[in-house]
Amino acid sequence: MIPKEVIEEVVARTDIVQLISGYVTLKRAGSNMVGLCPFHSERTPSFTVFTGSNSFYCFGCGAGGDAINFVRRTENLDYPDAVEFLAKRVGITVIDTDVHETRSRFDRKRMLEMNREAARFFHEELLKDNPEAATAREYLLGKRALSRATVNHFGLGYAPNSFDALTPHLRALGYTEDELVAGALSGRAKTGKLYDYFRGRVMFPIIDVSGNVIAFGGRVLDDSKPKYLNSSDTPVFKKTRNLFALNFARSECAERLILCEGYMDVIALHAAGFPQAVATLGTAITPDQARIMSRYSKRVVISYDMDEAGRKAADKAMRLLEEVGVEVTLLKISGAKDPDEFIRNSGADAFRRVLDASQSKFDYTLDRVLSKYDLIDPQEKIKALGELREAIAGFPSSSEREVYIGVVADKFSIPKKSLREDIDRSINRHRREYKKKENDTLRQSITGYQDRVNPEFSRTPGIARTEETVLGLLLCDPTYRAALHRDPPVLTEDDFLTAFSRRVFCAVRDKIGDDDWEISALNEDFTPEEIGRIYGMRNRRMQLTDNGDKVFSDCVAALREAVADQKIKSSDDPMAALQQILKNKRKEDKGEV
Ligand code: GTP
Ligand code: MN
Repeated sequence: MIPKEVIEEVVARTDIVQLISGYVTLKRAGSNMVGLCPFHSERTPSFTVFTGSNSFYCFGCGAGGDAINFVRRTENLDYPDAVEFLAKRVGITVIDTDVHETRSRFDRKRMLEMNREAARFFHEELLKDNPEAATAREYLLGKRALSRATVNHFGLGYAPNSFDALTPHLRALGYTEDELVAGALSGRAKTGKLYDYFRGRVMFPIIDVSGNVIAFGGRVLDDSKPKYLNSSDTPVFKKTRNLFALNFARSECAERLILCEGYMDVIALHAAGFPQAVATLGTAITPDQARIMSRYSKRVVISYDMDEAGRKAADKAMRLLEEVGVEVTLLKISGAKDPDEFIRNSGADAFRRVLDASQSKFDYTLDRVLSKYDLIDPQEKIKALGELREAIAGFPSSSEREVYIGVVADKFSIPKKSLREDIDRSINRHRREYKKKENDTLRQSITGYQDRVNPEFSRTPGIARTEETVLGLLLCDPTYRAALHRDPPVLTEDDFLTAFSRRVFCAVRDKIGDDDWEISALNEDFTPEEIGRIYGMRNRRMQLTDNGDKVFSDCVAALREAVADQKIKSSDDPMAALQQILKNKRKEDKGEV
């Protein structure tokens, strides 16, 4: 556990505006700052940073919290790591040696050492003097034409074609069976016996930006299937959040990053003098990976295979990278299926020329459309124009659009004016659709429809909303919190119907003292989504500060009533039900209801 005082100190010393400005462009709006939410895609800013309370909240998607919560979400860290991350920024040492140990059943440091040991083992196997190793060496050095230096640089290795090579080796070094299985290095057979997961494959260690071996990819030497086998996610590896060779590329990519599809493409590029190449790990690019890349470079050249699958993947990569503000261009290579093959056929100089001539998104789209349709046929020509119109409508800058309108009008011999009108119509349609989608998400987050944080919300929305109002008041004002510690308390957990609200209530009562900003103390017990919801409750109340006392007492009464009603409904005891009815009747007679 990190001491509470340390957490408070870290939060207090962090300037949340400065922190968030590193990720989001903020503009002043009254006493607060607003910007485009980094957690969902939007075009009108609903992401707000409240300078007064050192917190943020997105009115679009409901993300919210303090600096720790922001870091948890943007950097995808768990709670202790997020505290450490911020502590480093403000120059505080978190003296909590067992942060990592307490977090998962597995010791992170040991797992990383185990992976390093496995990488060393595979590398040594590759260099051994036996026919199997010789075949593997011939594959890498001969067939794939890698140099020994490249093999060493990437720490490439070989997993022998055996069920018990690596497993007994690591067991002898003291790693437990559970560690081997959790680390995805061994599988467990039905009999309970462990076996090597990677067999008869050349091995590519995957190394994070701190230099830790976190996972492996392995390729067969022939045409058998599956061609590549990758580590599944482990306590130290998430494949959607890492990039192959980023450890090398990170210091070489000031100008641009090159995004490839495969390990072998990256290796060939690095060997040919392009160390700014990275690849995803056997999956299509994810939003997390796009965000990570945007942190290292503002320009990315996509260098995918030239087949239809590669083009589809490139479309997706282009979209995700543009969403995080990266300028994207696309590489057009001819006469080879991928960058690896291109370099082997044509050499590094030819690749540099292609790289420097990488196409803008518009040129790439124009090329694609022109090669797809036969412009002699009027129907095809109309389809082609339709696609180009949509593509141009997607560019936010009107002067840029104007240039492309000129190009297309020329190419298709049509007046610029009619093309421009069509494009403006598309833009308006997109705006309307977009606005509608944004409203839908907003409505969903308010009505609790599809509510993952509080699944009980939709069952009794009226009461659940009342619960959130009460919690919002408690979060805003210490005087209401003080009332929870009176004897008898004004409100107890039994007055809440939904389990989530009950949990929030207990945490507020037991963890938050007199200072409103102590709301940070909740971070530890709730997920980032839950924290967002909690900040939402508070922010909604903060905007309506008048007659809080009356609202509070009305809501408390409403909750009591609702709980009592619920008890009757779920009660099997007819007497209790009868008593409740009589009680209500008496109230009615007295004119209370
Ligand atoms: P080679 O040049 O044939 O070694 O492969 P490549 O690097 O050109 O790979 P390819 O374009 O076929 O695939 C790109 C990437 O997708 C690879 O580097 C792997 O990460 C992944 N991949 C390819 N085949 C498989 C497979 O069978 N299973 C898994 N999980 N991933 C694969
Ligand atoms: Mn290839």
